[in-house]
Amino acid sequence: MGDWGWCGSTVKRENSHSRAVLEEEGGSTGLNEADSEVMADARFGNGWIKQMAEWRGEEGIPKTRSENGTGVRTISQKLALLGVGHLVGDWSRKADGSPEEDLDLLKHTQGKCLSNLFLKPPILSQMPGGARVLYIAIFVIGVFAWYYLQKPSQTRALSNGVQIPLIGFGTAALRNPKESISRALESGYRLLDTASDTGPWYRTESVIGELLANRRQKVFLTSKVHPQDLGAVATLHSFEKSLKNLRTDYLDMLLLHYPRCWGDMCSRPSEGTWKDAWKVLEREYKKGRIRAIGVSNFNVWEMDELISWASVKPHLVQTHVHLFHQPWDLVDLCRKHGVLVQAYSSLQDYNRVMNVSAVVDIASKRGKTVPQIVLRFLLDNDVLVVPRSDNVTHITENFNVLDFRLSEDEVASLRNVVP
Ligand SMILES: NC(=O)c1ccc[n+]([C@@H]2O[C@H](COP(=O)([O-])OP(=O)(O)OC[C@H]3O[C@@H](n4cnc5c(N)ncnc54)[C@H](OP(=O)(O)O)[C@@H]3O)[C@@H](O)[C@H]2O)c1
Repeated sequence: MGDWGWCGSTVKRENSHSRAVLEEEGGSTGLNEADSEVMADARFGNGWIKQMAEWRGEEGIPKTRSENGTGVRTISQKLALLGVGHLVGDWSRKADGSPEEDLDLLKHTQGKCLSNLFLKPPILSQMPGGARVLYIAIFVIGVFAWYYLQKPSQTRALSNGVQIPLIGFGTAALRNPKESISRALESGYRLLDTASDTGPWYRTESVIGELLANRRQKVFLTSKVHPQDLGAVATLHSFEKSLKNLRTDYLDMLLLHYPRCWGDMCSRPSEGTWKDAWKVLEREYKKGRIRAIGVSNFNVWEMDELISWASVKPHLVQTHVHLFHQPWDLVDLCRKHGVLVQAYSSLQDYNRVMNVSAVVDIASKRGKTVPQIVLRFLLDNDVLVVPRSDNVTHITENFNVLDFRLSEDEVASLRNVVP
């Protein structure tokens, strides 16, 4: 750092010493105890005076007290040398009250401390090489840091530290999977939500595998094990098949789609239970083949049981959350245990939602669309979203909800919506 130093470090310790030295020089310092405190605050340090004198080619501490012999000018000079001349008030005047004349000395040495360097940067060319590089580096890093801090975060950390995008793209029941998923990726979505092709709802794993051939690592991939495939062997088989379809050797998230078969969703009974399947997920997670694991469509009791029983706690639960279906008991339980909640089917019943004055009013007041307010409402409740659309405008619109937040009152009014 050459001649440059930080002025504030030795202040208090040096202050009394400075007074003693000045008094040795003959004459009063013109300082009382209160003044000393000011000087301490002003980062007055004798060591630095000495160093500054040396910069100017003088030997040791400047001995010249002012011509009138009061010592007042010496002090004002020295304070000004430290770049704190503005704090000295009357001291920067001669004893007869006339203004300080020897300003050249003060100007010459102002800003030689690092503390002043950042507050009053001298012309870059006057800085020593090392300090110049440091100054520019800090400035550039500061600008980038400021820029990134201003940008709303697009991800959230799961309990294991893995970052998951706040908004994903739902791929169930797409009419034009390839076009819509491509559009979503172009619009900025970095999470694709799919599921094994065992059931009729998703036929998108292979499409996604094809689309992500060259950019797998840029996208957070979630897939799910169909309830028909619950069991020690069947679940592993389902996982392997998903990897193959998706043309990858790992998943970012694997969920058990349902805790069991119900209705006509399964064409045969499952081999085992969700607990058998969960053990497979835990094992593959520990091997590093899945970065995070979770479940879907588990109710509060099932979730409670899973959390207390599992050796790897679930990282996420995907469940139905909508303006007309707000399962806060489940959300609160998950929050208590560090499990993130991700909403599905949150844009269903669009026509009915369009009749809810609370949401329509907020949308018109904020210049947003109703789906944007619904998605933002969920995000403001720490619930992640995976909207689905085949419409280019909707795909973009649904993603553009990160640059605003709802007020507490707005959130409260939407929490009270009655279907
Ligand atoms: N784990 C589970 O059991 C489960 C169950 C269901 C869904 N999911 C996941 O969650 C995803 C989303 O749920 P979802 O498929 O039920 O769909 P959704 O996101 O709730 O809603 C999709 C419907 O909303 C319309 N829409 C979307 N954006 C719109 C906008 N900005 N303005 C007006 N209309 C809009 C779509 O029509 P357009 O195409 O015309 O835009 C479509 O009809 C699924 O794709 C799937 O990945 C999981």
